[in-house]
Amino acid sequence: MTHKGFTLWFTGLSGAGKTTVSEILEKRLRQANAKVEVLDGDIVRTNLSKGLGFSKEDRDINIKRIGFVAELLSRNGVIAITAAISPYRDVRDFVRSQVENFVEVYAYCPLDTLVERDVKGLYKKALAGEITNFTGVSDPYEPPENAEIMFDSSKESPEESAEKIWAKLVDLDFLSPDG
Ligand code: ADX
Repeated sequence: MTHKGFTLWFTGLSGAGKTTVSEILEKRLRQANAKVEVLDGDIVRTNLSKGLGFSKEDRDINIKRIGFVAELLSRNGVIAITAAISPYRDVRDFVRSQVENFVEVYAYCPLDTLVERDVKGLYKKALAGEITNFTGVSDPYEPPENAEIMFDSSKESPEESAEKIWAKLVDLDFLSPDG
């Protein structure tokens, strides 16, 4: 397989499947010998963005940093996959304007389902007011209006979503399975 450098930008609420689907794609890309790096919000916040909180200002700084690194990588032929909530449309569109090959993926899941799943136990705390400014509960999330791909993790398995994204990347000529 050959590939171009590009940025695959996941956006969506916490627990909607950004990390899970990005990990499936990362694994599959590595198996195909692609050069790939994942920038996951939870991980970036332990190093590159350590100390930042969840105000709009801090989230914007976080997203711009992730976008900056993704641009460096993808301009050098690497596939950069990012998985941060990135709740604000203006900053996502700013990053889009900075990155040549930019593909936005909207990881969607109805809030009810996220609250039911509550993998990290954060929705419960947010609903109880123990965490403030929690995206989707007490802080805004602006869904993309022009995402190249969308999946609904309440209706599709992570493998199905990954497959759909893979097909789109082939379609866009960013991945060429036959060399
Ligand atoms: S972003 O808004 O700046 O893109 P990012 O993806 O890096 O967010 O971090 C989100 C993760 O931080 C969530 O998955 C969750 O684990 C944790 N988190 C802690 N507090 C909050 C909050 N107030 N809102 C959203 N996520 C939070």
